[in-house]
Amino acid sequence: MDKVVRVDNLKVYYERRKGFLSKPQYIKAVDGVTFDIYRGEVLGLVGESGSGKTTIGKALAGIVRPTSGRVIILGKDLYSIRGQEAKKLRTKIQMIFQNPFSSLDPRMRIKDIVTEPLKIAGMKVADLDSRARELIEMVGLSREHLNRFPHQFSGGQRQRIAIARALSTNPELIIADEPTSALDVSIQAQILNLMKELKDKLDLTMLFISHDIGVIRYISDRVLVMYAGKIVESGEKTRLIDEPLHPYTKGLLDAVPVPDPSKRRVNPVVPGEPPDPVNPPSGCRFHPRCPYAKEECKRIEPELKSVDDDRKVACILY
Ligand SMILES: Nc1ncnc2c1ncn2[C@@H]1O[C@H](COP(=O)(O)OP(=O)(O)O)[C@@H](O)[C@H]1O
Ligand code: SF4
Ligand SMILES: [Mg+2]
Repeated sequence: MDKVVRVDNLKVYYERRKGFLSKPQYIKAVDGVTFDIYRGEVLGLVGESGSGKTTIGKALAGIVRPTSGRVIILGKDLYSIRGQEAKKLRTKIQMIFQNPFSSLDPRMRIKDIVTEPLKIAGMKVADLDSRARELIEMVGLSREHLNRFPHQFSGGQRQRIAIARALSTNPELIIADEPTSALDVSIQAQILNLMKELKDKLDLTMLFISHDIGVIRYISDRVLVMYAGKIVESGEKTRLIDEPLHPYTKGLLDAVPVPDPSKRRVNPVVPGEPPDPVNPPSGCRFHPRCPYAKEECKRIEPELKSVDDDRKVACILY
C-alpha cells in the first residue's frame, strides 16, 4: 500500500523551567512512537487528555520540531528539507483545529480565509474566486457567505469554513485535531458526517485525533491508542474495538457513555490518575492503573509488537 506518512521513533519533549536558575525539566509529551498512514485512510488517534495526541498532530503539520526521530511525508523528511521544497510540501499538509472560534482570523472575510493556503501556494489571483465558491459549497454553505466575517457564523458553520480552508490545496494529508469537541452535541454529528462524506468523495488521507472512542469508531479505518506519550495498541478499527487487547483500550471502551441514562455507567472514565509526563511510571506506564498488573510490569517496559496481521500491542500479557 502507498504510504503518505512514516513516523519513525518520534520524540517530542517540552522544556519547562520552574525558576531562572533551576534545572530544566522535560515534559515527555511524545516518547518514541512509530507508525504509518496509508493513502486514502483515516487513522484515528485516541487517548485521554495529556497523552500527546495534539503534539503528534503538530509534529506532522510541521508546527512542532521533534526532539528526535523522523517524520517522513511523501518520501521527504519534513524537518530536514528547506526552501521551496519545504514550502511546497507544507501546503500539501493541512490542519483542522479543535476551536473554530480561535482558528479563524476575525478580521478576514471568509473568501480570504478559505483561499489563504492557495495564495501561499502561489495560485493566480484570477482563479481564487472560483475556487472559493467551489470550496464553500463543498462544505454545505453558500456563495453569499464568502463576503462575511467569522463572527457572523455559528460554531458548526465556522468549523465548515475551517474544513473548506483545509481542503483548498487538495492536500495529501489532513490532520484533524478534535474537530468536533468544542461544538454543541447536536452539531457534532453534522460535522462528523460532513467529514466522512468528504473523505469518501475526495479519497482523503487523514489523521483524526479524538479523546472520544465513539467518534473514533465512527470515522476511522485504523486506530492508534495512546497512553502517556506512547502507542499501546494499534489495529484495524472494527477488530480493535470488538476485541480490544490492551487493558487501557479495554478501559476506554468500558468508559464510552451509554445513550440510555438509566444504564449509564457511574464513572465514564478509566479509573485512576493520568501519570506525570515529567517522571512517568517505571516499566509499563499504565501499571499504576492496570487491573492486571504484575510485579514485573513495574520493571519491564513492554514493546509494541505484532500479535497478528495488523494488530500491535504493548503489554506483557501478549
Ligand atoms: N507548548 C507546550 N509546552 C509545554 N508543555 C506542553 C506544551 N504542549 C503540550 N504540553 C504538555 O505535553 C503533554 C501532551 O500534551 P498534548 O499533546 O496537548 O496532549 P493531548 O492532545 O493528548 O491532550 C501534556 O502534559 C501537556 O501539558
Ligand atoms: S504490561 Fe502489565 S501493567 Fe502494562 S498493561 Fe500489560 S498487564 Fe497491565
Ligand atoms: Mg489535544
